[in-house]
Amino acid sequence: TQDALVIFTPSGKRGRFAHGTPVLTAARQLGVDLDSVCGGRGICSKCQITPGYGEFSKHGVTVEADALTEWNSVEERYKSKRGMIDGRRLGCQAKVMGDVVIDVPPESQVHKQVIRKSASQRDIVMDPATRALYVEVAEPDMHEPTGDFERLVTALQQQWGVGEVAAELPILRRLQPALRKGNWSVTVALHKGNHDARHRILDIWPGFHEGKLYGLAIDLGSTTIAAHLCDLHDGSVLASSGVMNPQIRFGEDLMSRVSYAMMNPGGDVEMTAAVRTALNGLVQAIATEAKIVPTSIYEITFVCNPVMHHLLLGIDPVELGQAPFALATSGSLVLDAADLDIKAVNPAARVYILPCIAGHVGADCAAVALSEEPNKSKEMVLIVDVGTNAELLLGNETRVLACSSPTGPAFEGAQISSGQRAAPGAIERVEIDPQTKEPRFRVIGSDLWSNDPGFAAATDKTGITGICGSGIIEAVAEMRMAGLVDQGGLIGGPDQTGTARCISEGRTHSYVLHDGTATGGPLITVTQGDIRAIQLAKAALYAGARLLMDEMGVETVEKVVLAGAFGAHISPKHAMVLGMIPDVTLDKVISAGNAAGTGARIALCNVAARNYIEDTVHHIHKVETAIEPRFQEHFVNASAIPNAVDTFPELS
Ligand code: FES
Repeated sequence: TQDALVIFTPSGKRGRFAHGTPVLTAARQLGVDLDSVCGGRGICSKCQITPGYGEFSKHGVTVEADALTEWNSVEERYKSKRGMIDGRRLGCQAKVMGDVVIDVPPESQVHKQVIRKSASQRDIVMDPATRALYVEVAEPDMHEPTGDFERLVTALQQQWGVGEVAAELPILRRLQPALRKGNWSVTVALHKGNHDARHRILDIWPGFHEGKLYGLAIDLGSTTIAAHLCDLHDGSVLASSGVMNPQIRFGEDLMSRVSYAMMNPGGDVEMTAAVRTALNGLVQAIATEAKIVPTSIYEITFVCNPVMHHLLLGIDPVELGQAPFALATSGSLVLDAADLDIKAVNPAARVYILPCIAGHVGADCAAVALSEEPNKSKEMVLIVDVGTNAELLLGNETRVLACSSPTGPAFEGAQISSGQRAAPGAIERVEIDPQTKEPRFRVIGSDLWSNDPGFAAATDKTGITGICGSGIIEAVAEMRMAGLVDQGGLIGGPDQTGTARCISEGRTHSYVLHDGTATGGPLITVTQGDIRAIQLAKAALYAGARLLMDEMGVETVEKVVLAGAFGAHISPKHAMVLGMIPDVTLDKVISAGNAAGTGARIALCNVAARNYIEDTVHHIHKVETAIEPRFQEHFVNASAIPNAVDTFPELS
């Protein structure tokens, strides 16, 4: 017969095709994931494949060297203009001429996986809501009068199999010049969110558009706003950046911001304006850093706690300050960026806000659930997203519980006497010799310990400026282990501790971690007030975990995942010495990095993940810490270091 056997790898899909069938056509008929932006016209180069000549006997196919057509002029032109890896062909130009095995390299797959760095993290499968599509449109004909837009839609439907398509007026205004300039071909940025019945054209260019489409995944926290700028085609992160949330001047934590809104008429409006201004600034900054124009940003996904959620949307958060903590809406939201006054991005840019779980458990917690998937865990896993407000998830494949706990900003280095944000010069690692009580430390920006030769030179540029969240956690835990602090959290005096580093400050004592005053630097101490702030924060965190464990009816957990902007930097041992997390073997404590931010990225890159998390949150049971008497009880017990009642066998 004239049919040739075609086998695609890595999918293993196979079929018989008539000689002369383009590889791209064969791939489409078999449902093989082979990318194309230009629809097979040899322009976009997304369809590159590697023919497997001669090495595929394991598939039972003998591949002849001429199993595909020779290079054609389109490919020659493409190669000379932009280059192509040796051995590659354009799938839309290469035609099947005999039995052949064809490999689709990862970058030619639409649903490519973005490999995440850490082994504990899962990959993101690309399936974005916004795609660039090149399309050739029929010219107008006096005898068959149809509008240019209608012919564009027909072309999109025929060439790309899309359903209904809509366009706003600004696009319609640009349509006719674009079609004529592109000689009846255009590229459109086409968007379809998970709740949209129709596709929407967000942008249009004459001919084939070389530029890329970008999206932003934003984790809007009470203290910091962190954003990842992602390529919507391959999911790569071009830049990550953060700014302080300017709402801090209205109150450090969530409840003080809700009170500000309650006490000051128009206070919520002020806070909404502040955060939106900061977001516009962040968009500009991250675009500059990545060297892209901000108008090439077409989508934004947001994750945030309920109070930030309402203030972003311009909804007064007063109801969140009192029982029963009703949200204006807990569902996911699909909006225009313009609705949120985010003007720096493309004017047609779309926004997706992940669903909230309940009044105190927001879209940030949903994002952590999307990233870490406790609902698929075989082990009983506790996930702790450490921030000004901690989100906790406990569960396994049978049941998942969630709560939030008001830890305050101490873990982020705020409310700490020498505290600072994690930045070069901040002390991030601390060890204290239990015999001599002498400390050594490391600062961000250098790999050396403070007692290593060369440390002074290595930190000459950054200086030693303060202590960040992970640093203060280690400092307090090390002070406890070295006997400088008792179980109640009291710092001993020089006589009790035997070290002159414990200095008197009125009626309490401080421990001198670093004295830089001789060279004009700061005196960095851990004060009694610092210890108290950390005790309160960690007690709130631990009490939240215990409350979830009570509700679940378990005494122990099998795994702990530390997440949060600085979750990746917390040392599990020190967290446990401090009693931040329940007792578990140290190798079962895993760092997930900024899981909420990752959840936002997953929702940005994969539109189906939006449906998945919307469904998943319905199965997460929320536990309210604010009105639960046992929370108070656990909180009081948990302020001792590590704890007044619970045992920590793994520490002994
Ligand atoms: Fe665009 Fe082949 S599909 S170059």
